[in-house]
Parts: sequence; C-alpha cells; structure tokens
Amino acid sequence: MAATGELRGKVAVVTGASRGIGRAMSLAFAAAGAQVVVAARTENEAPPDSPFAKYGSGTINDTAQQIAEAGGEALPITCDVTKSEDLRDLAERTVKHFGRIDIVASNAGVDCESPVVDLEEELLDRCLTVNIRGPILLCKYVLPQMIEQKGGGSIFCITSGASMGYRENRVGYSMSKAALDRAYLSIAEEVREHNIAVNVLSPGRVDTWMNRRGDWPGTAHIPMEQPDSINNAAVWLAAQKASTFTAQRIERAEFGTNWGPGIPVPTP
Ligand SMILES: NC(=O)c1ccc[n+]([C@@H]2O[C@H](COP(=O)([O-])OP(=O)(O)OC[C@H]3O[C@@H](n4cnc5c(N)ncnc54)[C@H](OP(=O)(O)O)[C@@H]3O)[C@@H](O)[C@H]2O)c1
Repeated sequence: MAATGELRGKVAVVTGASRGIGRAMSLAFAAAGAQVVVAARTENEAPPDSPFAKYGSGTINDTAQQIAEAGGEALPITCDVTKSEDLRDLAERTVKHFGRIDIVASNAGVDCESPVVDLEEELLDRCLTVNIRGPILLCKYVLPQMIEQKGGGSIFCITSGASMGYRENRVGYSMSKAALDRAYLSIAEEVREHNIAVNVLSPGRVDTWMNRRGDWPGTAHIPMEQPDSINNAAVWLAAQKASTFTAQRIERAEFGTNWGPGIPVPTP
C-alpha cells in the first residue's frame, strides 16, 4: 500500500468494511493517510471450501489488521446498520477514539433478488432497512460532530446502476438504491452551508460476494472490475468539501473523464 498523504489528519468511517468494496475503500483511505474506522457486523471465518472464502474472510478485524500491517491506523467497530443504537455508538466511539469525523463512506448494502410476486416481506424489509434507513441514520448520528468541527467534510454513499434502470427481479433493490440517491442528494443541500460534501457514487459491476455469481440480468455488458477499482475515485471524493464538489451522483467508471481533478463541476 503506497502512502499518498491526501487524507492525512482526517478520520474516515466506512460501513460494510469487512469485505468487498468497503474493505477496498478502507485500505485506500488508510493508504492516503486517514485513520479509518472499519465497521460491519463481525463474522466468523468461512470454511475454506466455501465460495465465501474467495471474497475474503469477511471480518472487520481482518480489514483493520491489513491496514495496520501496511503501516496505517484503523479501529474495528462492530456495527449492524439495521440497529440505530449501533449507528449512534459508531459515531460516539469514533469521536472518543480519534477525536473527530471527516469522511463517511456509507457502503453497507444487501441485495434483494426476487420477482415481486414471490417477494418475501422479511427480505424486502431488510433491504430497505440496510440500504436506506441505515444510511440516513448514519448521517443523523455523524453530522452533529462534523458540523461542530466547522471544517467541512465528505460523506458519500455507494449506489448502483439499478437505481437508474431496470434490473430483472430487483424491484426492492432498485427502489432502495433510488431512494438512497434521493436521500443523500437532499442531505447534500441540508449541509451545504456547513461545507460538508454529500455525494452518491455508483461503483459499476464489481467482483464481490454480493455479485458472486456475476449474472445480474442486464449487466453482462458492463466490465467486471475488482473492488480496488474504486480506490482513486473514493479517495478523491473523500477529500472534497461542499465548496469543491457536492450533490452529485457520479459513476466510478467516469472518474477522471466526466468528474474528478480539474474537471468543472456541473450545477446540481
Ligand atoms: N458488487 C457490485 O457489483 C455492486 C454494484 C453496485 C453497487 N454495489 C453496492 O456496493 C456496496 C458494497 O457491496 P459489495 O459488492 O462490496 O458486497 P459484499 O461483498 O456483499 O459487501 C457488503 C458489505 O455490507 C456489509 N453489511 C451487510 N449488511 C450489513 C448490516 N446489516 N450492517 C452492517 N454491515 C452490513 C457486509 O458486512 P457484514 O456482513 O460483515 O456485516 C459487507 O461488508 C453495497 O451497497 C452494494 O449495494 C455493489
């Protein structure tokens, strides 16, 4: 992990950091100099012959250890984003340990694969709770500290192409990500006066546990990327404030061409 220093002195919170895109962003933020709070539900090691193993062990402790081994600083915190007390605790423990919150990547998410006639209510409720309610409550609990600091900051969520277009058998997931987009773009306006950037980042098709079968209908034409494909876009986004880049829904694949360093910001 090459240290770049772009985020030196900043404290980042990443949800869903035990594997996949969240783990990649955690490692990238730490490599850029941030102290990173690695949040997800703690999981046991998967058996070696499990398909899960291909995508990593799935523990926050492993992510934190990888950061430490690379010379960075991380704090693993067990957090189930469906529990508001866990989210409040995440914000409080971050401030207690690192003294501030500058960057928040709301990444934890779950799929909800089912045609609507077969949709189980429990699956729909969990999808909406993890993908919408959790990210909104996360903002509720981190923002008072970020506002009090008066130094600006950056929050972004991980959305999906499913928020913008039809994906077969994904009524619940698509709706959850569309609602998430709207929620974060609204929060961007609420906190613009505090110089806190809030953006929505779509990662493309990524080879993770969630996408393990790689067969989401309607996505075959999109190249399958590895989780660290998000690193440059995520680190740049994490360094923004409302005065430089906010209220945008952006595609990771367009970083450096349609948005990013030196590219004029479209009016939201
Ligand atoms: N992979 C893709 O192609 C793709 C495309 C578009 C968008 N996305 C989005 O990218 C984000 C990351 O997904 P991924 O592809 O990296 O999938 P993943 O490997 O399945 O990772 C999902 C992460 O979310 C966490 N999580 C799930 N439920 C949680 C809960 N209740 N509380 C806290 N954390 C929870 C998981 O940790 P624990 O299980 O340890 O809690 C895990 O760290 C998601 O929001 C997903 O919708 C992915």
